[in-house]
Amino acid sequence: MIALEELMRSWWPRGRRRYGLWSRLRMFIFALVGLYITIPFLVKICPAIQTQLVFLNLVRFPYFIDLKRPQDQGLNHTCNLYLQPEEDVSIGVWHTIPAVLWKDAQGKDQAWYEEVMSTNYPVILYLHGNAGTRGGDHRVQLYKVLSSLGYHVISLDYRGWGDSVGSPSETGMTYDALHVFDWIKARSGDNPVYIWGHSLGTGVATNLVRRLCERETPPDALILESPFTNIREEAKSHPFSVIYRYFPGFDWFFLDPITASGIKFANDDNVKYISCPLLILHAEDDPVIPFHLGRKLYNIAAPARSLRDFKVQFVPFHKDLGYRHKYIYRSPELKQILRDFLGGTEQQ
Ligand SMILES: *[C@@H]1O[C@H](CO)[C@@H](O)[C@H](O)[C@H]1NC(C)=O
Repeated sequence: MIALEELMRSWWPRGRRRYGLWSRLRMFIFALVGLYITIPFLVKICPAIQTQLVFLNLVRFPYFIDLKRPQDQGLNHTCNLYLQPEEDVSIGVWHTIPAVLWKDAQGKDQAWYEEVMSTNYPVILYLHGNAGTRGGDHRVQLYKVLSSLGYHVISLDYRGWGDSVGSPSETGMTYDALHVFDWIKARSGDNPVYIWGHSLGTGVATNLVRRLCERETPPDALILESPFTNIREEAKSHPFSVIYRYFPGFDWFFLDPITASGIKFANDDNVKYISCPLLILHAEDDPVIPFHLGRKLYNIAAPARSLRDFKVQFVPFHKDLGYRHKYIYRSPELKQILRDFLGGTEQQ
């Protein structure tokens, strides 16, 4: 202890204490200001930083779950499987069957799950947002709700997320979703297939559905939970960018690198090429994707020519409910909302 005290005294002599503290503080402030000014240049020079901020696929929270064991998340009627959309790309998929069938599912293999898809239940392809994996808690909770309402839920980790192999890109994500859609269609018989996108996944969802409509194989409906208009508007509104929002040249420094990396997620453009029923869900107190962006998307979609023969609905959730960005699954109204929108296709 004495040795330590002496060491500290020699490093920080008594007489210079005040001066030392001030100069340290000043240095700290200089460093902060320096960092604040340097970061935009770094981002501009190295667009990969922005790409990573958009995808956040390396954030694998929760870290200690085994994606091969969905049963650990309380999903006793879920099968884990892998698909290969392209050479060198492998994606992890969870298939949750309607909860009424949970007893039959015990001890069954992938082939059994695939067969069950052709029995009389609708299928939801769930496209998750950035960060985390298909085992993320708010996602698992939604699978449970949807499965209890009588849907199959198919959820995937795009290339680069979770245990899926490949490097992330908007095109790659969309391609992975398309591959899983075709995989479902090859097994689902005449059952309706719906696409459900959440957050960044809404960008994948509208890319996918636009492509499906161009191919003349539209899904039976598209559901967008907490969507944005396009990635530039979203990045501008994201809480991360608050500290730079008034930085001169914000767009040039922070948004152009995203665009230059080929990332658009242009929901606002895509909806003009989509022809299927569209449901938008958004919580007023969403801190990640502001409510007004969801509303704006609806205002673009509602009068779109491509959607004129289809139901387009916007369902807001009051801020007092506290559903924020990822808790809409908690709404007891969800069952009725889906039943009204999808026209009573549920089996329960
Ligand atoms: C299995 O899951 C179903 C549906 O979520 C649930 O009702 C049931 O209680 C679970 N069974 C066991 C043994 O955990």
